[in-house]
Amino acid sequence: MATDYQAPSEEKPVHFINVKELRETASKIVPVGGWGYVDGAAGDEWTLRENTLAFERKQIYPRVLADLEKPDLSTSILGTDIRMPIMMCPAAAHGLLHVTAEKGTAKGVAESGTIMGVSTYSGETIEDIEAAGNGAPQWFQLYMSKDDEFNKYVVQTAEKYGAKALIITVDATVGGNREADERNNFVFPIKMANLINYGQGLGHSIGQIFANALQKMSVDDISKIASYTKLPIIIKGIQCPEDAVMAIKGGASAICVSNHGGRQLDGGPASFDVLAEVATVVDRKVPIIFDSGIRRGQHVFKAIASGADIVGIGRPALYGLALGGWQGVKSVFDFFYKELEMVMQLAGTKTVEDIKKAKLK
Ligand code: FNR
Ligand code: LAC
Repeated sequence: MATDYQAPSEEKPVHFINVKELRETASKIVPVGGWGYVDGAAGDEWTLRENTLAFERKQIYPRVLADLEKPDLSTSILGTDIRMPIMMCPAAAHGLLHVTAEKGTAKGVAESGTIMGVSTYSGETIEDIEAAGNGAPQWFQLYMSKDDEFNKYVVQTAEKYGAKALIITVDATVGGNREADERNNFVFPIKMANLINYGQGLGHSIGQIFANALQKMSVDDISKIASYTKLPIIIKGIQCPEDAVMAIKGGASAICVSNHGGRQLDGGPASFDVLAEVATVVDRKVPIIFDSGIRRGQHVFKAIASGADIVGIGRPALYGLALGGWQGVKSVFDFFYKELEMVMQLAGTKTVEDIKKAKLK
């Protein structure tokens, strides 16, 4: 398929005051189809908006006379030490945002000292993304296919090239109604490295790609995938306490509370609004990764104070990628680092463990 899609290519640090402004700047340079796919969500985008608004319904107590300076943001998850409790969510097709695609993101995330999520629907190969991260931790995200040979092959390839964990995403058995994509007649103008031999990716819509993945999914599928690998398994897309219990029974080493950035079930609650109830049933038996809607350091704090061990960011880092390649990605992680550091100081919390004990109002 011939394509004249022109992704941005500048490489520079990105200066911005907040993610709202970063988003606006990025919207001006990403081609319309790619922008609609990345920035858009499902249906009326009610859940998308709620994802960030929900944080406003909880407040952080300022804690004074706390006898501290220079909070320590470092933490550890599933045996991996990271500089901040914030990772890069797995996301498809970074090549829509920048010519360096996932290689740029992987370098920016590595330079930020944290974990890179690598999607099954990446443009670049697992091997090349791993090389761009230069030994920094990466977690491979699997969309289970109906074809088990494919599942085995990608999981074992990710393990071979050094992935430290396997994320299995379970909330996308069909695509949400992405109206921007419909309006733009959006089909991927770039290849997806893992799907090339399957004749998928380039020229297809995300709905068509999801249709080829597994619809009928149960905990048995998780156990089957677990038998292909020694990697710890994270189940991503949990929004309900009952599903958290099932995932853990099915062998999950961690769960990811996420509503996919509002891209799947519009009308579902904000991801933050279900976090505390999920955390209660999980009861620290396994770590919780949280994502969807994080746009500020205070959101990171509130998520960790509500039961998350670390959080993930999706779109904000992709905006940074569009505006400045790997350096733009690093600028975004620097922004979250600085804001979280400030919030930790003002909330009287010296460490990530202290945030976990902090009470919200
Ligand atoms: C995603 N997300 C996603 N999730 C996943 O498990 N596999 C994937 O391939 C993708 N692809 C993808 C593409 C794009 C463009 C976006 C924006 C998101 C969901 C992602 O991992 C994460 O859950 C959300 O992005 C978090 O919400 P925020 O931070 O974007 O609000
Ligand atoms: C998306 C995918 C690929 O949200 O997860 O578009």
